[in-house]
Amino acid sequence: MKVTTRFLLATAVVWIDASTSRSAPLASNAVHEQSFQLPADAGSGLYARVTTPLSAGAPPSDAELKPHTDATNLTQYVNIFVGTEANDDPGDVFAGASVPYGMAKATINVEGYAPAGYVWPSDKPTRGVSPLHDSGTGSSSGSYGNFCIMPILCADNELDACTTLLEPRERMRRNGTDHGRPGYFTTTLDNGIRIELTSTRRSTLEKYTFPAAEMRRAKSNPHLVLDWTNDSPGTFRGGEMKADWQQGRLTMNGTWLSSFGPGDFRYQAFQCVDLLFQGKQRLSAHAFFGGNRRGYDTKRQDLDHWVRVAQQIGQYQAGALVRFDVDREAKEDVTIMVRRGVSFASAENACRNMEAEVGDWDFDATVASSEAAWEDKLRRIELSAATPDYIQRLFYTSMYRTFLSPNNATGDSPFATDSPYFDGMYCTWDTFRTLFPFLSLTSPHEFGEIVETYIDGWRKEGWLPECRANQVKGFVQGANHGVPVLADFAVKYAKAASSLGVDTDELYRAMQHDIDVPWPQWEYEGRQAAPYQLYGYIPFGYLDPASVGEQTREASRSLEYAFGDFTAAMTAQALGKPVEDVQRYAMASLNYSLNFDHGTMSDGFKTFVQRRRANGTFVPSDPTFCSPLDNNSSHACSLQAENDFGVYESSSWEYSFYAPHDRAGLVELMGGNATFEKRLDHFFSKGYFAPGNEPSFDTPTLYHVLGKPYRSVRRVREVVDTYFSLKPGGIPGNDDNAAMASLLGFYLLGFYPTPGTKELLILSPFMPGYTLHNPVLGKATVNVVGYDERSIGKTIPQGVKAFVSEVRIDGKRHTSRCRLSFDDLFPGTPEGERKVEIVLTEQEMEGCGDTDGDWPMSLSTGGFLDLKGTRRPS
Ligand SMILES: *[C@@H]1O[C@H](CO)[C@@H](O)[C@H](O)[C@H]1NC(C)=O
Ligand SMILES: *[C@@H]1O[C@H](CO)[C@@H](O)[C@H](O)[C@H]1NC(C)=O
Ligand SMILES: *[C@@H]1O[C@H](CO)[C@@H](O)[C@H](O)[C@H]1NC(C)=O
Ligand SMILES: *[C@@H]1O[C@H](CO)[C@@H](O)[C@H](O)[C@H]1NC(C)=O
Ligand SMILES: *[C@@H]1O[C@H](CO)[C@@H](O)[C@H](O)[C@H]1NC(C)=O
Ligand SMILES: *[C@@H]1O[C@H](CO)[C@@H](O)[C@H](O)[C@H]1NC(C)=O
Ligand SMILES: *[C@@H]1O[C@H](CO)[C@@H](O)[C@H](O)[C@H]1NC(C)=O
Ligand SMILES: *[C@@H]1O[C@H](CO)[C@@H](O)[C@H](O)[C@H]1NC(C)=O
Ligand SMILES: *[C@@H]1O[C@H](CO)[C@@H](O)[C@H](O)[C@H]1NC(C)=O
Repeated sequence: MKVTTRFLLATAVVWIDASTSRSAPLASNAVHEQSFQLPADAGSGLYARVTTPLSAGAPPSDAELKPHTDATNLTQYVNIFVGTEANDDPGDVFAGASVPYGMAKATINVEGYAPAGYVWPSDKPTRGVSPLHDSGTGSSSGSYGNFCIMPILCADNELDACTTLLEPRERMRRNGTDHGRPGYFTTTLDNGIRIELTSTRRSTLEKYTFPAAEMRRAKSNPHLVLDWTNDSPGTFRGGEMKADWQQGRLTMNGTWLSSFGPGDFRYQAFQCVDLLFQGKQRLSAHAFFGGNRRGYDTKRQDLDHWVRVAQQIGQYQAGALVRFDVDREAKEDVTIMVRRGVSFASAENACRNMEAEVGDWDFDATVASSEAAWEDKLRRIELSAATPDYIQRLFYTSMYRTFLSPNNATGDSPFATDSPYFDGMYCTWDTFRTLFPFLSLTSPHEFGEIVETYIDGWRKEGWLPECRANQVKGFVQGANHGVPVLADFAVKYAKAASSLGVDTDELYRAMQHDIDVPWPQWEYEGRQAAPYQLYGYIPFGYLDPASVGEQTREASRSLEYAFGDFTAAMTAQALGKPVEDVQRYAMASLNYSLNFDHGTMSDGFKTFVQRRRANGTFVPSDPTFCSPLDNNSSHACSLQAENDFGVYESSSWEYSFYAPHDRAGLVELMGGNATFEKRLDHFFSKGYFAPGNEPSFDTPTLYHVLGKPYRSVRRVREVVDTYFSLKPGGIPGNDDNAAMASLLGFYLLGFYPTPGTKELLILSPFMPGYTLHNPVLGKATVNVVGYDERSIGKTIPQGVKAFVSEVRIDGKRHTSRCRLSFDDLFPGTPEGERKVEIVLTEQEMEGCGDTDGDWPMSLSTGGFLDLKGTRRPS
């Protein structure tokens, strides 16, 4: 998902113009404790960066210069701030305290454009600390951000002098005080108050340290504002707040609007806050407050219960205010501890969650156990100790984010269920391509739980979720992509499925239902199935009485439906379903070609995806619309009715390369190898490639299908070097729940997946070797024979080994140098071990191997499925 204004959606919430937060150039003394801060002039290529002595900028610490020897501490390589810069293509990454899949994601909320709460640089004021966030989603006014706690001082301890409302209470933070690592975050406000956060799955521990000098100067005790009504987008629709002042416990709840859905999709959130730190802290005053942006700010000390409905005009702010009883004249700074729990089910759950998870209020122990949980995830891929430090950091920083979301809300779901429940799966259009295939390498248990959440969505609400966010369904983006997610699990883990908690018969039923049955409201889930089945594509200008939805995205949805059909065929085959099912879905998937108009020309190339009428005629638009080169800012590129060129959040230039199941067929459709290669080159050189947009993920590796794997390797090196780094702006667009992180993860490991299949295109690893640990399929050790660090920059110098000449599996020559199967990688048993050698050469070797089977698979040339005699319609 993108967030330039053309991609913004008109929903019930107010959208903030992303372009108002321009980026400042990266200061070399910036932020990040754990990060490898490179001087801006450290050379252009990665190789240069890796070898340039760190003279300029921040002095490197010892840890940074030493080769890594302590293989058990991988969290040290994670920079939680990558992707937090508020620039023109922001990553919108969450930077704060979270455990893997944490439902509690604690960080500060800053003003302005900050969908995940935190942004870099620190040029916007902070409104408080919220325990609820998503990561990498593009909703421009943010997701969650509820229940901010803000530490403040009140002049002369006058309650009326306490600035409780959003704007008056905001403070800048001190530059250079943001630090963090997995499980821990800290920053300091400009008045010296230090914030430190850690968390468990559904709870947080928060430390607010008030400087003694500042308290004396203001003649103020420590105070906390506990915001009740404000979420980031400002959508409060009523709720309740209760205080037990004796116990120092507050419970709050409310109803808010989902961040990626229509105004009638609402969610509830609950929190429970403890303020007395097991009797070590005392309150000396308390109040409820209410006010508005016009300066009305009033407090009452006699209340302990408040039920309020949403206001129709304006935005009313409310919450609680507490003062802590401390000796202000003492010389020491005062640290106030806060414990809170959250839930999407009830206030009781929220209290129970924190009592169970942070019963002892032990901040350091909570940090340590969060770090251990992260270590456990990261250790599943062990990079060779000889891996360049920069690559270690890039890799583990990305791998960390692949476990940051979705949010594990099991036990706190809005509906009763015995299944695992994950929230913030937003959107599957983003994540099906690389996130789930990446998860499949090491984490079948986690993958199984998330798949079960999709299936449970079908059980409970009738359809596979596409963009479930804030515990409610969202908008469909490209199509119903729960299908390829289920398929990826089914083809790789069919045998182990039941031990992973997934019933494959149910999985298949849910999938078939999602594909075959027209959904009356395809904009929320499911498909516009009836006309698609009838025509083989979604016709434009067609009255469809079976499904309601805006007349948009016909061409790209058709391509995505077709790919979904293909993955259903793969699933049917993997699960031993009737061969007619395999045939039917496979045939349907080849209908993707019906969307290509041979009559459209652009830059001298013909054949582009276009809208098509039921009578077969095309309704063409300029294929450059909504590409990075499109200068017309009035073009609507997203879900809007005004998006009238048939393609979703992308250009026809970009989507016309999209047929991952039939790449060879696509080459033929576009006029053969030579034309295709020229067109692909033009796509990159002219600037149609959108590195931060998911439909572009496939394009750098399309050279494989031309038998030029070395060109894919060169292209991927260029993409990684140009668009990815460890800087706050180090990803080229929204991370989209780690879509971007998992793409980079694959590129660095030297593979590229086709979701819903076992196919892996072989690239060239950025490190000399690594081991994948899979608890179901065993251990895979990849060794890169002839690895040369000089190859990992933007361009591969002459004579440097970087291209694959041969692959050996357990010592035996694997005949292809372009592809292997997921099954080739893993031994298949938990105790098993497989050795894969990737042998490099400096020569650009043409072709993939000697036989058809060595080439990347394509459906219409006999790959993936046995479909003799089937033809792609022209
Ligand atoms: C891991 O490394 C980081 C950074 O050096 C350090 O802060 C942390 O304490 C280490 N963790 C363990 C468990 O050793
Ligand atoms: C911090 O740095 C930013 C620029 O990166 C600047 O705009 C801001 O004013 C600085 N804040 C403070 C509190 O000095
Ligand atoms: C929260 O909302 C529910 C209604 O869904 C209400 O019954 C409950 O008492 C509310 N209050 C708290 C503090 O949980
Ligand atoms: C999600 O939370 C449940 C309940 O604590 C736990 O059993 C499960 O392992 C968690 N799943 C993941 C993937 O972290
Ligand atoms: C493929 O498209 C044709 C129209 O060209 C249509 O008749 C057929 O039903 C489609 N195939 C499937 C399996 O949907
Ligand atoms: C298809 O339908 C459009 C719109 O009704 C019409 O303009 C066009 O002439 C038709 N083409 C054919 C070949 O029937
Ligand atoms: C956009 O504007 C630039 C500079 O004016 C021009 O070179 C380019 O061709 C334009 N692009 C499109 C797609 O119109
Ligand atoms: C820009 O796009 C809008 C909306 O499609 C269109 O009305 C307008 O004519 C376009 N402007 C130019 C200069 O092409
Ligand atoms: C394209 O290249 C592949 C691989 O070299 C070859 O098998 C195929 O026949 C070529 N196609 C055409 C149309 O030349």
